Amino acid sequence: MIRSLPLLASAAVLASLAAPVSAEEVDPGAIVALQFAVSGNHKGVRASGAKGVCLKGQFTPAADAASLSKAPQFGKSDPAMPVPVTARFSMGGGNPKVSDKTKPTTRGFAMRMQDPAGDMTFVVISAPVFSTRTPAQLLEFLQVRAPGPDGKPDPEKIKAFAAKNPETGRQAAWLNARPVPASFAGTDYWAVHTYTLTNAKGEATKARLKLVAADKATLSDDELKVKPDSFYADELKERLARGPAKFDLVAILPEPGDPTTDATADLPEERRTRTLGTLAITGIEPDSTCDAATFDPVVDLPEGIAGPADDPMFAIRSPAYAVSLSRRSN
Ligand code: HEM
Repeated sequence: MIRSLPLLASAAVLASLAAPVSAEEVDPGAIVALQFAVSGNHKGVRASGAKGVCLKGQFTPAADAASLSKAPQFGKSDPAMPVPVTARFSMGGGNPKVSDKTKPTTRGFAMRMQDPAGDMTFVVISAPVFSTRTPAQLLEFLQVRAPGPDGKPDPEKIKAFAAKNPETGRQAAWLNARPVPASFAGTDYWAVHTYTLTNAKGEATKARLKLVAADKATLSDDELKVKPDSFYADELKERLARGPAKFDLVAILPEPGDPTTDATADLPEERRTRTLGTLAITGIEPDSTCDAATFDPVVDLPEGIAGPADDPMFAIRSPAYAVSLSRRSN
């Protein structure tokens, strides 16, 4: 579904390219304009996830998923009747030519699990944390990376921002400490927000969601060196010709005192988990199947699962994605 598109308030957007951040209220259009500016203002592509592959697949819930959530997608545990899925793997950022070999860039995974009673959409990344805690912090994170009059960002501004906002370095540190995935399907993905699952009895459970790859694969530095800049799309075609690429959808259950409103903060490793089902990516779809609308992780959730009202990075994603859709469609 194509949503109503907030106006790109051009004066506000231009001002935001340079202005310091004071208010917590942030114009999503200003963030998206900066996302485009930071990655070279490419036309006709997403502000993030510009390079990607559109996919189809199916989701089969675990037999006991309905005990956590009454969402229709978790109730259909008949393996003969899986939930149809449209999905997209991508590289983070708005540069459609970014190299698949880039280490500190998140790989992205968007998925819409369809049901007549309401689609369930998750848009997740290959790191357990996001780079910023609030939209105002994201705006400033992008402002210091935007090209100055000489066409380049000022490294001193980036350094000063990082020193003042150490949590914004966690995502890059996590990615830099790990090898590059050998495949879009060879790495785990996290939703980074804390959801609330509600079952038919009205019992609520907080959960961070993670897609756990069945066939993890990474590249050593030597293997990476001999790869071309674009190899994920071909690798995926070959992989899917052999069979589906599978992921378990896992709920990680926070304990009292764990962070639930801060997308830059991870949960301790040892938290209990519940598997909600298995997502099987079965084939490649034409780009047009994924490009006509946004994957909206905020609005497209059925009853039985809700995003966090108290994580400021969550709700703003919906209008931001709509602004990007408007720009790439015009
Ligand atoms: C305030 C926070 C965020 C903003 C402003 C933002 C902004 C955007 C925008 C504008 C797009 C392009 C949408 C389109 O044209 O369809 C996008 C795509 C994407 N975002 Fe975000 N994002 C935010 C947070 C996140 C988080 C927390 C994650 C993951 C955990 C994420 C993962 C992705 C992915 C994977 C895509 C590509 C979607 C696709 O393939 O269609 N973003 N983001």
